[in-house]
Amino acid sequence: MEGTSFVLKGDICYSKTPTSLFTAEQGFLVCTQGTSAGVFDRFSRIPQEYQHLPCIDCSGKLIIPGLVDLHMHAPQFAFRSLGMDLELLDWLETWAFPEEAKYQDISYALRAYRALVADLQQGPNTRLCIFGTVHVPATLLLMELLEHSGLVCMVGKVNMDRNSPDSLREADAERSEAATRQWLEQCKTYRRCKAILTPRFIPSCSDDLMRRLSAIQRQYGLPVQSHVSENLREVAWVRELSPEASCYGDAYARFDLFGGEVPTIMAHCVYSGSKEIALMQRRGVYVAHCPQSNINLSSGIAPVRRFLEAGLSVGLGSDVAGGVHTSIFRAMSDAIGVSKLRRCMGAKDEAPLSLEEAFYLGTRGGGSFFGQVGSFEAGYEFDALVMEDPKPLPPFALTVKERLERIVWCSDDRSILKKYIRGTPQPASGFKAPDGQWR
Ligand code: GUN
Ligand code: FE
Repeated sequence: MEGTSFVLKGDICYSKTPTSLFTAEQGFLVCTQGTSAGVFDRFSRIPQEYQHLPCIDCSGKLIIPGLVDLHMHAPQFAFRSLGMDLELLDWLETWAFPEEAKYQDISYALRAYRALVADLQQGPNTRLCIFGTVHVPATLLLMELLEHSGLVCMVGKVNMDRNSPDSLREADAERSEAATRQWLEQCKTYRRCKAILTPRFIPSCSDDLMRRLSAIQRQYGLPVQSHVSENLREVAWVRELSPEASCYGDAYARFDLFGGEVPTIMAHCVYSGSKEIALMQRRGVYVAHCPQSNINLSSGIAPVRRFLEAGLSVGLGSDVAGGVHTSIFRAMSDAIGVSKLRRCMGAKDEAPLSLEEAFYLGTRGGGSFFGQVGSFEAGYEFDALVMEDPKPLPPFALTVKERLERIVWCSDDRSILKKYIRGTPQPASGFKAPDGQWR
């Protein structure tokens, strides 16, 4: 159990369902030892047992759940916004792989990961699922920094034993397995930063490696994260590499690394057709929708409306550095934007995402991968942001929903007044040097 017990007073807003917001103007949100005890519209309605708790007055501020990034690459943060003229496979060869190879050097990793963690601490995300690199020491270092950052994360040492440069690729499946086992033994003690098995994507992982990872998954009961159906050239390549698979997702399912008993996040799903959607639905696979990355790498627009109609679990990802911005507010507004483009480019029966839906995806939708996370209903883990309205305010009155809408579209990290994770107030920044230099 973590966190203290207190009451926050302010304008409270969270998702009840994918399509409905709960709002309470001048409401009271009760936190007991890291867990929400619910929202009450008047002090007198707070259960007697909690009325003595200290009440932190955030009147006039918006209080919302912390945001959840279901997909990002820690070693790509350093080069975000560079190389945005390329599509996925060329971008990996030209930017991602050479940069990730540098994390062999632990002092380089330290400088870069410190800067990333400082950025994340100042931002609105409270939970993240993160790709590291193939390197065990650098991935452990990243986990160590995150463990002490206050954030709650799942981090994966990446596995890749084919189709990538010698400087990054693991020598063979056996050595990739051994390194993974070593990593898992060494990160067991972390409480906030947990391991997630991370085969990079099918083109990077031989069948031999996938079989070994599947055995590790079963032995340790690990969740899994990877990429699926992001880019047309990639999808065609996977069809050649795994001709027996009925769809890209099935190439993971053949190794029992695609949902079912295995909590699984698959990033992108831009080209997931009916077969793949049905497989994800049957096996409870989470979709990490990464709209900004899909724009930047010219990947396409994921059919999120179809995912929601099929009842899939969907969350949002920054996919830094396919995406440039770490904030999941940006992913929310981009998700709304690309859903409108998808409709006007031919998907006439796919209604664009509403604000309510985008907010749901970035809080409760992705949060459920971490358990009871992403809402203020009683029993949910208490991750909260206290937000200032972006200035200047318009000269007319705003509803709570309209204020949320402005925060989603035009807030930045300066709008975050307080951040709580599992009931613990977070420091504004842990690592950033006063001059903003990378150290
Ligand atoms: N597919 C395999 N690796 C990557 C990566 O690093 N970024 C993205 N966007 N897609 C990938
Ligand atoms: Fe990615």
